[in-house]
Amino acid sequence: MTKKNRTMALGAFLPAPGHHLAAWRHPESHPQGGLEFDYYRRLALAAERGMFDLMFLSDGAGVRTAYKDADELSRQGRMVHFEPITLLSALATHTSHLGLVATASTSYNEPFNIARKFSSLDFLSNGRAGWNVVTSATDAEAKNFNLERQAPHADRYARAREFMEVVTGLWDSWEDDAFQFDKDSGRFFDPEKLHILNHQGEHFQVRGPLNLARSPQGQPVIVQAGSSPDGKDFAAHWAEVVFTVQQNLEAAQEFYRDVKQRAQDAGREPDQLKVLPGVFTVVGETHDEAEEKYQQLQSLVDPVVGLGMLSYQLGMVDLTGHDLDGPLPEMPAIEGSTGKQNVIVQHARENNLTIRELYLSIAAGRGHRFLLGTPVEIADQLEEWFVAGAADGFNVMPDMLPRGLDDFADLVVPELQRRGLVRTAYEGTTLRENLGLHRPAHRH
Ligand SMILES: Cc1cc2nc3c(=O)[nH]c(=O)nc-3n(C[C@H](O)[C@H](O)[C@H](O)COP(=O)(O)O)c2cc1C
Repeated sequence: MTKKNRTMALGAFLPAPGHHLAAWRHPESHPQGGLEFDYYRRLALAAERGMFDLMFLSDGAGVRTAYKDADELSRQGRMVHFEPITLLSALATHTSHLGLVATASTSYNEPFNIARKFSSLDFLSNGRAGWNVVTSATDAEAKNFNLERQAPHADRYARAREFMEVVTGLWDSWEDDAFQFDKDSGRFFDPEKLHILNHQGEHFQVRGPLNLARSPQGQPVIVQAGSSPDGKDFAAHWAEVVFTVQQNLEAAQEFYRDVKQRAQDAGREPDQLKVLPGVFTVVGETHDEAEEKYQQLQSLVDPVVGLGMLSYQLGMVDLTGHDLDGPLPEMPAIEGSTGKQNVIVQHARENNLTIRELYLSIAAGRGHRFLLGTPVEIADQLEEWFVAGAADGFNVMPDMLPRGLDDFADLVVPELQRRGLVRTAYEGTTLRENLGLHRPAHRH
C-alpha cells in the first residue's frame, strides 16, 4: 500500500536523555539512558505509538565537542551512547513499523562496510532501514582515524559522492530475484543476475559483489543532513529525506524551493525528496506549563557547557576571552558545517544577542526551530510551515526524554490527526511505503 493524501512525515530524533543541553540534569531525567537498551526500547515503542515515520539517531566518530579539558567535558550530558546501527538492529526486533535511521559518516568509513551494515539492517527490520549520510564536521573525529585534522569541506563532499556511487552500486550487486536456492537444479543463485561492480575511482577501488542479496527496500532510504551549496547538491542527487536546520518561514521556504529545484535539475521527481526541518519541542497541557518546563531546563544550563556547545555549533570556533555579555565576534572561515554556522550567526545578528543570550537561546534546539506550547499551538505552527511549502514534515526533537516524546505522541499527534495532517494507521510496513517513496529499480 502506498500513500494517497499528502500527510506530514514525522521523524523522532532521539538522543538520550533529550535535546535540551541540560536535559540530563533534570530531576525526572534518566542520564544513563544512552547506555541502556530498555530505555531505547521504550522510546522506540513511544515513537511507534505516535505513528512516527522513523526514529533518527545522529552520531559522531568520537566525542564531538570543543572541550578544552576533562573538567569541561565532565559537565556535558551526552558523552556516551551506543553505536546507532547496532542499537537499531536490536530495536528492529521490538518494533514493526517504525523506520530506523542511523547516521554514518562517509569520511571515516569504507563504502563496502556501510553498504553491508545498512543492507543487513534493512533485512533485520523487514525494510525499515535508513542511512543519514554525513561527511562529519570536526577535527576531534579525524584524530580517531590517523589524521590531525579533517579534510577540507569540498574534499569531504567529493569523497562522499564517490562513496555513494560505490554503496548504491554494491546494493545492486544482485537483481531482486537472483537467489533461487534451488536444491533440485543445484543453483543457489542465477549467475545472470549477479553484477560485479569493479569500481575504480579516485578514492575507492571496490570489486564487489556485496555478500548480501538485494534488501527488502531495494535500497535503504537515503537521508542527508548538510545545508551548504555542496550539501544541497549532494542532497539533490542522492537524498530521499533531507534533515535541515531552519529558523524562520521565509528561509525555510527558500531552502525547500532550492533543494527541490536542484533535485528536478538532477532529473529527479521533487516529490521523491522529503524536506524535514528539525523542530525542538516543549509541550504542555497549558502554555504556562510548557513555559515552566522550559525555564526549569534553562536554569540548569552550566555556562561552561553553554559556551562549549556554541563553539561546537559554530564549527569549533574558539570563543574564550570574549565577553559573554558582548556580541558574537566575526566568524573565521571553517571547514566544518558552514550551513549550520550561517544560520546561527544570522540568528544572533538579527536578534542582537550577546554570546550568553545566544548560547541560552540555542541550548534548547541548537539552532533548530523552537516550538513551545499546547498541542494546539504546536500543531498550528507545524501546519503553517507544511501548507506554506516550507516542509514535507518535521524531525521532532523533544526537550527531554522520554517525557517530551510521550507528550508529542500522546498530545500533539492526536491534534494533528484531527486535522488530517498525519496518518491514523501506518500505510505500509516499509519505511519507503510510509514515506511515499518509490522502491528503486535495479540498475542493470
Ligand atoms: C541538520 C544537520 C544535522 C547534522 N547531523 C550530523 C550528525 O549527526 N553527525 C555528523 O557527523 N554530522 C552531522 N551534520 C554535519 C554533516 O557532517 C555535514 O555533512 C557536514 O558538516 C557538512 O555540512 P554542510 O553541508 O552544512 O556544510 C549535520 C548537519 C546538519 C545541517
